[in-house]
Amino acid sequence: MGVNIPSRILTNADLEKMVETSDEWITTRTGIRERRIADYGLSASQLGIPAAMEAVEQAGLNPADVDLIVCATSTPEKMFPSTSCLIQKGIGAGECGSFDLLAACSGFIYATMVADQFIRAGSAHNVLVVASEIYSQIINWKDRDTCVLFGDGAAAVVYSSSSGPGGIVDSRLHSDGSFAEFLTAGGVSSRNPESAGALGNGGYFLEMKGNQTFKVAVKKMTEVSMELLEGNGYGPDDLDMVIPHQANIRIINAVGKNLGIGEEKMFVNLDKYGNTSAASIPIAMYEAARDGRIKPGDLVLMVAFGGGLTWGATLIRW
Ligand code: ACO
Repeated sequence: MGVNIPSRILTNADLEKMVETSDEWITTRTGIRERRIADYGLSASQLGIPAAMEAVEQAGLNPADVDLIVCATSTPEKMFPSTSCLIQKGIGAGECGSFDLLAACSGFIYATMVADQFIRAGSAHNVLVVASEIYSQIINWKDRDTCVLFGDGAAAVVYSSSSGPGGIVDSRLHSDGSFAEFLTAGGVSSRNPESAGALGNGGYFLEMKGNQTFKVAVKKMTEVSMELLEGNGYGPDDLDMVIPHQANIRIINAVGKNLGIGEEKMFVNLDKYGNTSAASIPIAMYEAARDGRIKPGDLVLMVAFGGGLTWGATLIRW
């Protein structure tokens, strides 16, 4: 695994000077105290490359050993070429397959299942998944409803075929486009001509119906967790750690309560980074392993939801 998190910190106190908000409101409603912001102009591939290099080195591989790169991002460098292609060049990988995958905050779970399926099918042996997000560039910094929630960050994981103990047990993915308008970011796109982007309006920035998203998130994260656990003959009591998408402490607590899992088993680091979208789970996974919160043999559940709406879960025997 590898991470790359920008060094610049934006605190709740800083936000108090930008929009009408307060540290107290942000902390009690979200649990977020600060987030990281990438330097203006830094791209998703530039943020992702150091994380990818660290992951490849930690896996004991050379970049040439990677035979597939999947970049989970909803803030891609360009419409094309894909951010994954630029990461392929940046790390000096061989002519391996590479593509971007867009499932917003569920992107890492989606990419993990893709990697798992490629490996199980025998189509790849070493799959590099990179989640790199620069939400500071799609946030409307005048919109207090959303600008307090997100941060920038990247993380990467190498999944390899192995006969050893542990590994990905199983995953589940879901989506429902009838909730599409709950969470959108038009950018400059086929639906949003260049003039909208130039003016910074007309659906260019991230827009969210926070309250409705919250309710669906809690319900769907609970459902998919149970679906995945029961589908593999497990229950919540079998879990050693849950690494949920880091969007809001109240969502995490509600999901933990629904599953009957104590707070000590629900990993939380959103106080430091806010919601880094697809990067949130791999950053949390990296920190949980580094800090000894997960150890070999543990059963770990990762569960996410995001724009689409999308949601999904992965079960890993560490
Ligand atoms: N500071 C102060 N007041 C605020 C702020 C702010 N930053 N933002 C909103 N308010 C106000 C609202 O205007 C509203 O005022 P009103 O009552 O006078 O109308 C009041 O606070 C309450 O607003 P609600 O939206 O009802 O607050 P809620 O308790 O729902 O919390 C929040 C809002 C934090 C956005 C919550 O709904 C949430 O976390 N939703 C989940 C969204 C999420 O995690 N999205 C990420 C999805 S992942 C992805 O794919 C990108």
